Formats: sequence, structure tokens, C-alpha cells
Amino acid sequence: MKNIVILISGRGSNMQAIVQTAQKEQWSAKIAAVISNKPDAAGLAFAHAQGIPTAVVESKKFATREAFDAALQTQIDVFSPDCVVLAGFMRILTPAFVAHYENRLLNIHPSLLPSFVGLHTHRQALDAGVKVHGATVHFVTAELDHGPIIDQATITVFDDDTEESLAQRLLTQEHQMYPRAVHRFVEGQLKIRGNRVLKN
Ligand code: GRF
Repeated sequence: MKNIVILISGRGSNMQAIVQTAQKEQWSAKIAAVISNKPDAAGLAFAHAQGIPTAVVESKKFATREAFDAALQTQIDVFSPDCVVLAGFMRILTPAFVAHYENRLLNIHPSLLPSFVGLHTHRQALDAGVKVHGATVHFVTAELDHGPIIDQATITVFDDDTEESLAQRLLTQEHQMYPRAVHRFVEGQLKIRGNRVLKN
């Protein structure tokens, strides 16, 4: 059985969607652990209540990014992951960490990449005046918010939209798309060809 480790920093609604979809669809893969870099991440309580092992590697206790990532990697590897899922994990990762999980590290970013990398993506979308906004699930590479795209979901931007309304509407799409992408990956249905992710 394949092991999925999910990393969170806060609310963890995408993590919840993955856990619930895995249960509902009776995936042959299991959520082996949920790990947070913040002890007060709300998502930890949900994972714990589901009987999923949880751990905290507190980023603010480490002097350097390298030291934190090394400790995080050690904790993740306790669970022998086939797939590491970043779900609202608000950290920039070191190249060494990314390389260690090459081709098995997934992220969700709330924009239609390659547009609007970094933070405040809904503000960036409104400022740019785009009519279509969205979210992207991608393999993580050393360059922030880049990497082969697994799936994208779109929403229409309405005249009265705000950052909050966009975030809320997009989240519903994220909760559909991310579990589907993770499932495809652990089922071996994806192959990476350069920047493209194709069906196996
Ligand atoms: C989501 O919008 C996700 O795309 C972004 O951060 C948010 C996390 O929300 N990376 P949650 O913690 O999954 O509820």
C-alpha cells in the first residue's frame, strides 16, 4: 500500500478533502501522516480525530531553512512516503529537500500558473484584471511555484468579486481537484515528460 504524507501550516481544508475522498473512494493508498510546521495548525485536530498519525516540526525553532528542512525530511521519512502532498504548507523549500522528494512532491497553488506566483494570488488576479482565475496542482521543483502541471481548475471572475469571494469559490474547486490529482499519482497514472504531465 502506498503511503501519502500531507504537510500543512493551518486550516488544512485541502488535507481534509484528500482524507475524506480517500475514505469515501476506498483508495488502496493510505494517509500515513499529517505533519505541520505550526503547533496550532487547526488541521492537526481533524487528522488526529481521524486516527491519522500527526507530527509537528516547528519551523520557528530552527535557525536556518536548511536545518528545518533536514529535520522535516527526517520526520517525513519515518512514514516511508511514496507521495508528499503540500496542502497549504506555507514554506519555501530548499533545493536539497525538493531533490530528495523529486517526482513525488505535489503542491496546490491558488492561481493558474505560470501566472501569479507567490503570495496574495487573488489580489494579483484582481489587479491584473483577468476574467478567469484558478488553481494549479503541480509537481514541485526547486523554482517556487513552477514544475510540471498535473491539473488546473478555473473560475470566472465577476465584477463584484473580492479577494475573499475568489478564495472561497476557488477553494471548492481545489477540494475536487487536489484529491483527484493525488489519487491519479498514487495509482501510477501520471508520467512526466519535460514540463508536461501526461496520462500513463
Ligand atoms: C489553499 O488556497 C491553497 O491553494 C493554498 O493555501 C490554501 C490552503 O488552504 N496553497 P487549506 O489549509 O488547505 O484550507
